[in-house]
Amino acid sequence: MGFRSSKVVIVGVGNVGATTAYSLANQQLCEELVLIDVNRDKAVAEALDIQQSAYFMERNMKVRAGDYADCADADMVVISASAPMPKDSDDRLQMLKPSMGLVRGIVDSVMESGFAGILLLVSNPVDVMTYYAWRLSGLPSNQVIGSGTNLDTARLCTRLAQMYDLDARSVQAYVIGEHGDSEVVSWASATIGGKSVTDVLADNASRTKGTTKDDLLKSTIQAGWDIFSRKGNTCYGIASSVTAIARSILNDDNAIMPVSVRLAGQYGVDGVFLSVPTILDHTGAKEIVEIRLAPDEEAAFKRSVEVLRSQYELVDS
Ligand code: LAC
Repeated sequence: MGFRSSKVVIVGVGNVGATTAYSLANQQLCEELVLIDVNRDKAVAEALDIQQSAYFMERNMKVRAGDYADCADADMVVISASAPMPKDSDDRLQMLKPSMGLVRGIVDSVMESGFAGILLLVSNPVDVMTYYAWRLSGLPSNQVIGSGTNLDTARLCTRLAQMYDLDARSVQAYVIGEHGDSEVVSWASATIGGKSVTDVLADNASRTKGTTKDDLLKSTIQAGWDIFSRKGNTCYGIASSVTAIARSILNDDNAIMPVSVRLAGQYGVDGVFLSVPTILDHTGAKEIVEIRLAPDEEAAFKRSVEVLRSQYELVDS
């Protein structure tokens, strides 16, 4: 089996960008990895460090610091530049204004290079930033994707698996909507080993001290803050989530993951970016999967749409 030759550029090499770079390299997902940061020394240092680590990997890889001209022939550009999260903040939407300035500058520079690949947004608030990047870039919407609730989905599946001492990969439960407080769990489609999570919870209530769906949603929303409040950032989970998304795109896997995509009529929503299960191949968001939501889930999903849409006025102005 041969590897597809591919080039990935990461813009913003802080905790998230650097960890993502290492994770992509460690999984040998590309042949060429280019790091860009306003702090050139940081990009150079991370690139040197990762390049040296590649000696121990299974693929010959070129890792270096670069500039925006490198985006011209990149298959994927990951934007992980981040405005500092205000101290004591617990809502990613509070980063909107400073993130807009950063993302605008980056997207303009990326597009000036003639870039025509997949733009993967990680910067928070990720759903609004993905919409903004799509608008600024002029790229077709299938090529602009946000990391969205892929990570929240991992957090929920991990928690459910721990409750029953299982492998989290045997849990299939999607978190959809905003990567943030209004996110929604699609319980109606959630299964563990083919059994509905609703039944699993009911049949094991005594083992799990009566943990409810609401508790699980709350702990999923809280999961990022449990980390952030202790170390001031999160990096491994988000980097691994971004790597999984990149893997399906770069390897043309057609895996289904909940990522932030532009809905164009699906779920009765038009023109808003938020997470729903999506088939990811080399074209990016190849197809949006419409899962059947319970009426209360649908109502919560629509509320999430409105939370995000209400931010567009500022972004569009
Ligand atoms: C988190 C950040 C990436 O949830 O938003 O970990």
